Amino acid sequence: MNNITVTSPLLPPLEELTPYLEDIWSRKWLTNNGHYHQLLEKELCNYLGVDYISLFSNGTLALITALQALDLKGEVITTPYSFVATSHAILLNNLKPVFVDIDPNTFNIDPKKIEEAITEETSAILPVHVYGNPCDHDAIQEIADKHGLKVIYDAAHAFGVKKDDVSILNWGDLSILSFHATKAYSTIEGGAIICHTKEMKEKLDRLKNFGYESEIEISMLGSNAKMNEVQAAFGLATLKHIDSALIKRKNVASFYMKNLIDVDGLSLFPTDSNVSMNHSYFPILINEDKFGMSRDNLFQKLKDNNILARRYFYPLITGFNLYKKYIADTPESQKISDNVICLPIHTELSNDDLELIVKIIKNEN
Ligand SMILES: Cc1ncc(COP(=O)(O)O)c(C=O)c1O
Repeated sequence: MNNITVTSPLLPPLEELTPYLEDIWSRKWLTNNGHYHQLLEKELCNYLGVDYISLFSNGTLALITALQALDLKGEVITTPYSFVATSHAILLNNLKPVFVDIDPNTFNIDPKKIEEAITEETSAILPVHVYGNPCDHDAIQEIADKHGLKVIYDAAHAFGVKKDDVSILNWGDLSILSFHATKAYSTIEGGAIICHTKEMKEKLDRLKNFGYESEIEISMLGSNAKMNEVQAAFGLATLKHIDSALIKRKNVASFYMKNLIDVDGLSLFPTDSNVSMNHSYFPILINEDKFGMSRDNLFQKLKDNNILARRYFYPLITGFNLYKKYIADTPESQKISDNVICLPIHTELSNDDLELIVKIIKNEN
């Protein structure tokens, strides 16, 4: 029996990718702001409803570069409930991460707890739209404005997410996306920074290309974080299929909602009718006493039946040895991390797959 994986890459039909590859082969221009790179930036601006995008070779380098572009110093407030790339980007900029607890209703950084973590050293807030669920931007921006802080959103999960019909990627000073193969929309590896001005876009473009100002001038210490033409072509071919993929994901989410809503000891992620989600993840929370089984036992039971759910995000970032010295009082994050499972959600799941998953969770198999 094949494994049912937590995610599966969205692949464009091979015959639709081939003409792009043939054209790249004939142009012999493989990277460095090529034809398809420029086209994808333009099409993504249109699709996402944002003004400026700079494409990157992956989301982590986009995050690192976003923090670098804002010339931050000292401390950056963030969440321990994320993938480790979020806080690695802080450390890799020689900044100190300060971990603030999450709101257990949204799994996002709790704005009510941010102010008490601000010191003279704080220069920015780096919240994460966890599972694509929008942060409380109004509250975060109000605190940032009051204290003169920058806001960089880790929007790695939030491709295409809108609140009140407007892209949430326009929030804050900068937002970053990941186009990793595991994400709803991918360029195999890839990422992007969304910004508000032409000047910032040009700065980001320089920073991802060694800091070159011109052929004979380097104006800043940049890395090499450019997206190549094959990635960009894959992204263009995939973009034609993203809307139908998001509908399929929504249908999977609706199936789970309908079939799991009444299971004792199991809570589903609350939905907000003003938000159009991309359904990249389907987290459930297990209350061991009521459910009659621990999260880890359910995880193992699913695995024994070839269903590879994932414990995102477990351990917390602050649970890794590298981060133990950054003291964090984050009990809500710990509770969620200890009890969460993300169920398989992607475009390849059959009805049989979904029924099997639900049966196993409900102990009806
Ligand atoms: C919240 C979050 N931030 C950043 C990243 C890093 O993105 P990438 O894998 O494209 O480097 C990821 C994912 O993989 C992520 O889930």
